[in-house]
Amino acid sequence: MRIDFLTIFPQMLQSALAESILGIAQRKGLVRIRLVNLRDFTHDRRRTVDDRPYGGGPGMVLRPEPIFEAVELLRGPGSLVILMTPQGRTFRQSEARRLALCEHLILICGAYEGIDERVRNGLVDEELSIGDYVLTNGSLAALVVVDAVTRLVPGVLGDCTSVDEESFSTGLLEYPQYTRPADFRGMAVPEVLRQGHHGEIARWRQDVSRERTRARRPDLWADQTDVLGD
Ligand code: ADE
Repeated sequence: MRIDFLTIFPQMLQSALAESILGIAQRKGLVRIRLVNLRDFTHDRRRTVDDRPYGGGPGMVLRPEPIFEAVELLRGPGSLVILMTPQGRTFRQSEARRLALCEHLILICGAYEGIDERVRNGLVDEELSIGDYVLTNGSLAALVVVDAVTRLVPGVLGDCTSVDEESFSTGLLEYPQYTRPADFRGMAVPEVLRQGHHGEIARWRQDVSRERTRARRPDLWADQTDVLGD
C-alpha cells in the first residue's frame, strides 16, 4: 500500500510517522508513506502556496495550482484522492477498514482558512473529517487516518486477532484488561480472570463489554440492539 500526504507542514508529520508501529510498517515494506511538500510545486521565488480570499474576509486560502500539479503527478489508476476537512464525512473504524484495502491513498491536508473550492470540485474523490472540531491544519487529521488505516494492513500488527476483538470492530467497547500484580494497592484483578476457565472468561468479557457500551456509548448500543433485535 502507498500513502502520500500533500502538506505544507511535512516536518510536523515526519517524526510521528517514523516512530512505533507506523515506522515498523514502513521498514518492513508493508506501507510506503511519502511526505509531499506542496511548496515543491510552486514556481515563484518565495514558494507561495496561499493567497487572500476573493470577496474579502480573514485569513488565507490555499491556491489550486500546486495541489493540482502534485495530484496529477502522483495519481494513478489505483489512487483515491481524499481531502481532509471538517466538512467531510466523519471518519470511523468502518472507513479505516475500507481504506486499508486501497492500493494508493493521496491525502490533501488543508491549512489556514481553507482551500480553493476548485480543488474540491475538480480533484477530490472524497472528503473526510476526524470529528466535529476545527484543527489548525489537516495534516494532523490525515495522520490520525493513516495511523488507523496502517494498523489494519495485513502483517502490520503481530497478533492478528487483536484487531478483530478491539473496540468498534465488534460494535462493542473493549473489555477491561489486567496484568500483574494480582493485587495493586488494594485493587484486585477480578477473580474470574485468575481462574483460567476460558468459557467463563469469554462470558465475563462479553458481559462487561455490553454493559460498558450501553453505559458509555448509547449510540453504539442502539446500533447493536438493532442488529440483535433486543
Ligand atoms: N482540518 C481541520 N479540522 C479538521 C477535522 N476535524 N477533520 C479533518 N480535517 C480537518
